[in-house]
Amino acid sequence: MISRRRFIQTGLVLAALPKQMVWASAKVFRNTFRVPKLELGKRVGKDVYFDLSIQSGKSAILPNKITPTLGINQDFLGVTLFANQGDKVHISVKNTIDQTTTLHWHGMKLPAKADGGPHQPIAPNQTWQTKFDIIQSAATLWYHSHQLHKTAKQVYHGLAGLFIIGDDESKKLNLPSEYGVDDLPVIIQDRDFKRNGSFAYLGSMMDSMRGMKGNTVLVNGVVNPVLKAKKSLLRLRLLNGSNARTYHLSFNDNRMFAIIGSDGGLLEHSIKANTLRLAPAERVEILMDVSDGGHPMLQHTAVQESSMGGMGMMNGMMGGEQDMDIFQIDASSALKSTSNLPKTLVKHNNPQQSLVSKQRRLVLQMQMGPRMMFGGNAFSINGKTMDINRIDEVVKAGSTEIWHLENTSMMAHPLHIHNVQFKVIARKGGVKGHELGFKDVVLVHPRERVSVIMKFPEFRDATTPYMYHCHILEHEDRGMMGQFVVI
Ligand code: C2O
Ligand code: CU
Ligand code: CU
Repeated sequence: MISRRRFIQTGLVLAALPKQMVWASAKVFRNTFRVPKLELGKRVGKDVYFDLSIQSGKSAILPNKITPTLGINQDFLGVTLFANQGDKVHISVKNTIDQTTTLHWHGMKLPAKADGGPHQPIAPNQTWQTKFDIIQSAATLWYHSHQLHKTAKQVYHGLAGLFIIGDDESKKLNLPSEYGVDDLPVIIQDRDFKRNGSFAYLGSMMDSMRGMKGNTVLVNGVVNPVLKAKKSLLRLRLLNGSNARTYHLSFNDNRMFAIIGSDGGLLEHSIKANTLRLAPAERVEILMDVSDGGHPMLQHTAVQESSMGGMGMMNGMMGGEQDMDIFQIDASSALKSTSNLPKTLVKHNNPQQSLVSKQRRLVLQMQMGPRMMFGGNAFSINGKTMDINRIDEVVKAGSTEIWHLENTSMMAHPLHIHNVQFKVIARKGGVKGHELGFKDVVLVHPRERVSVIMKFPEFRDATTPYMYHCHILEHEDRGMMGQFVVI
């Protein structure tokens, strides 16, 4: 909660004090790292049955305060779902809250009717039954509310969780894979609070314009937790579950780690890095060696994602960026791991340029003026704001396409496409890091054009659309979303 900048200032003051006092002030987080419960469902052969309940709850997030929250099978956020490639999942979602909502399986290749987007609303007291086959490789996916114009608020209050997919190929790699022990979910979300402990949402015009950013970072629903590492090699499944903030992550001791996975699953080769950019909805899996027994802190370094650089107050308002500490690892009692940090991971079945049958352009725009200032649909794609009764694009099942994402606005937008995992083939400065892997969301900077290639799965439905949209959830809710059908 204390920003690093503030901490450094405090540090300077403390430098003049006797040594013991300085030691006493050395930053150590105290909240216990929470691992969301793992839900394996009821298994009958390859059929797996999940019973989910969308519920409201009360959570102790701040000291001596109670925060009203939303969750799935728990008070705040969702349980972690797990299934294997080749399974058929049957999911029953009961809505026990007093507002209509949905659950969307983000990153999943599946029939449009099972997608859980705005076309599958669940009214209060209703239950939605859905089923689909897991046809894709091991990956860290997630699920969240996708209620039209209400997604941002519902996710902010807690309607989001992880959906992990396993497969045989990844099992052979001997990666750390004991959930909660050396295979750890890390859902990063920023929030603001009111004095009474409840979440503060959209306090200002800027919050709804740049997307809601909070001053407090939570990891799996806990403020600045410390993880007691049990093993010397850890696999972190990082999810940026924030509404709007893009994180620039590194450890405070600048240690190296290996990036092994992106949105769509494992990379072909692990990549050594000491920093990492994580836009809203992106996932990255990293392996880190903590055999030194240290206390590394994961931190976010402020970088402006708008093109308002140097424009003083406007820049500050648009960016709303500050350095933040996220969570700490205490590796003092970690035991030696027997898992691997492999160089070579899995083989990708890449979409082929020679098979591209169509190219499309999506132009991401913001309309400045009264609409922007006073709410309403001020964000658009190709000049159109979201209309649930309009199909924007028609795609052939099984075809390979290139989409060019062009940002003409002054803010960066993380563009997400349902039902596919794409490869980024061109962007300013080249494609690197986790963006070399399969992705379902990609950050497009102001005045940038990012090109992605993808092969659409063989699900046909001429009437039920999938979505593509900015994953700054306030932008999605305010119009930056379009619909496509696959036929
Ligand atoms: Cu993460 Cu359309 O969603
Ligand atoms: Cu999605
Ligand atoms: Cu956006």
